Amino acid sequence: ALSASAATEMPPLPDVTGDTVKADGDFEIKFSIGTTESGAQYRGLEYFEKIVEQRSDGHIQVALFPGAQLGDDRQATSALQAGTLEMTMPSTSPLVNMFPKFAVFDLPFLFPKPEMADAVLDGEIGQQMLDDASSKGLVAIGWGENGYRQLTNSQHPVEKPADLEGLKIRTMENELHLDIWRTLGANPTPMSFAELFTALEQGVVDGQENPWITIESSKFNEVQDYATETNHVYTPFITLVSARFWDRLPEEYQQLLRDAATKMGDYQRHVSRTLNDQIKQDLKDSGMQITELTPEQVKLFQDKLEPVYQDWRDEIGGELIDDIRAQV
Ligand code: PAF
Repeated sequence: ALSASAATEMPPLPDVTGDTVKADGDFEIKFSIGTTESGAQYRGLEYFEKIVEQRSDGHIQVALFPGAQLGDDRQATSALQAGTLEMTMPSTSPLVNMFPKFAVFDLPFLFPKPEMADAVLDGEIGQQMLDDASSKGLVAIGWGENGYRQLTNSQHPVEKPADLEGLKIRTMENELHLDIWRTLGANPTPMSFAELFTALEQGVVDGQENPWITIESSKFNEVQDYATETNHVYTPFITLVSARFWDRLPEEYQQLLRDAATKMGDYQRHVSRTLNDQIKQDLKDSGMQITELTPEQVKLFQDKLEPVYQDWRDEIGGELIDDIRAQV
């Protein structure tokens, strides 16, 4: 298949608004992410860099490191705790061992629409989770969107759970994701994102799941002929700062980073949603065979996954699940 990425045009970066923030000292932020330079996440980071550098009048410099070059989501988060890296924006899923409540976002089909995820993340529940995650050497200052995950594979079209029988699927390092694919009949393996392209290329795994924009920006379509629009999980990104770095920052700059993180999150969601359909089309044009499921077909997956809700209820906390379900 051809690469689709050449066709993707990013929306322009918005202008920076807000006054210059004056405070003492000069600072440098190394900001690392797992996804590549051509993804929506990176575009968001470029906006963050622009806001922070302009509004600090150059006293805070931001250097961006995409494509897991400084480590995958977990390694980058550990580097923040050690104080060797200043910022990262992982998916919540690989951090569940550290923050068990994040597992709620791994429940399948929790948010039928992205606006429903926004309402929860930008509301009281999301704020409480940011506060809780501001511990263990980390300060959590905002949310972003990884997005709805879609299945790709190298073997055959997947239209119903039975088609997954025996397929080797790479998942994020997350027990609930493993449970989802096992329950559906596949053969899941947790693996760092940094190793994924090679594993797909060499046939170590048959498939993986990620949002369209990540499938395209990571060129998975070059090694995966089939995709299914499952929308099975909506994954948020969380913006994290090293507490060691944070504690050295004047309060004015801490506030600037918080503002910039909120603006980055909003803009990055906008980019991700604007590009989603176009990228799906680009992937089709590149030769990928994409199965779009009917509501009846989606229901087959949902019904099969209902036990996952029951099994994880105690672990995550029934009240939290009910609170979210009441809002969506
Ligand atoms: O599949 C993953 O590991 C994640 O979705 C990614 C692409 C690293 C973003 O956090």
